[in-house]
Amino acid sequence: PELFPKFSEELEIVDNKMGEVQGVPLPEATCEIWEQIYNFQAREDDILISTYPKAGTTWMQEIVDLIMLDGDVKKSMRSPCFVKVPFIELYPKPMPSGVQAANAMESPRLLKTHLPTQLLPPSFWEKNVKIVYVARNPKDCMVSYYYFYKMDQTLPDPGTWDNFFSMFMAGSVTWGSWFDHVLGWWKAKDKHKILYVFYEDMIENTRREIEKVMRFLGKELSEEVLEDIYHHTTFQAMRENPMANYSSIPSFVMDHSVSPFMRKGVVGDWRNHFTVAQDEIFEKEYWRRMEGTNLTFRTQQ
Ligand code: A3P
Repeated sequence: PELFPKFSEELEIVDNKMGEVQGVPLPEATCEIWEQIYNFQAREDDILISTYPKAGTTWMQEIVDLIMLDGDVKKSMRSPCFVKVPFIELYPKPMPSGVQAANAMESPRLLKTHLPTQLLPPSFWEKNVKIVYVARNPKDCMVSYYYFYKMDQTLPDPGTWDNFFSMFMAGSVTWGSWFDHVLGWWKAKDKHKILYVFYEDMIENTRREIEKVMRFLGKELSEEVLEDIYHHTTFQAMRENPMANYSSIPSFVMDHSVSPFMRKGVVGDWRNHFTVAQDEIFEKEYWRRMEGTNLTFRTQQ
């Protein structure tokens, strides 16, 4: 709790400036302490959740946390998700950085990152840390990110949907190119302990995916416990859970009246946003970038 002081008036100046590290756009505060982030010391029993923004990070965080706690729902609500799971590369000035928060935490730690593989602190590889990667259909990811850009005041104004579409395609959004991200992590999974999960599979059969994560983490939980975890991590349950829905972040940082963090939680919302022309541009670039890889997304779903 001492790591998370009450927000006060003086914090109401929100920093939404961007910088970059090796060509990847990142918040300016992250860039300022980049060396500290890159030198982060992972521990062997850490579990890292890695995603491109808006792929289902928070959902997976709740699932993994509950698995680690043998399904203890009460304990999982000990603190907001962004406190119990340090976000390694975030530096929400003047609060402690994700690195500081993680350093102060007892093991086993659950950690979060949006970094592409080339920027991941090397100690995660060296310590052979278990990593759960969640990937989401890029079109839904883009739509979700657009609304997040609008509600999260620490991100620059995204302008119109058309403008954001171009930014996303160019990889000039924060945390960089979706293509580079999913492909980098896809390649990394052949060499490291990475479970690569798809958001659409989680929607299609949540219980099956929860069990997959459980096995990956080397846990053995009863049907009953798995059922509890399932019920506690549905979209509905998480939307109403103040520890999971980001409602404790003040509105001058995240404005849920612009768009709630738990927005829709469905597959295919892109159809309500993409024009026919945008879909054509997208598909062309998608097939160009994915050709020769065996990574596939059902982009017409
Ligand atoms: P939408 O904006 O499409 O609704 P992240 O946690 O990576 O920021 O991802 C947020 C996205 O995951 C949002 O997508 C959010 O609604 C969705 N999400 C969060 N919890 C979910 C759940 N339990 N089931 C389905 N989707 C969920």
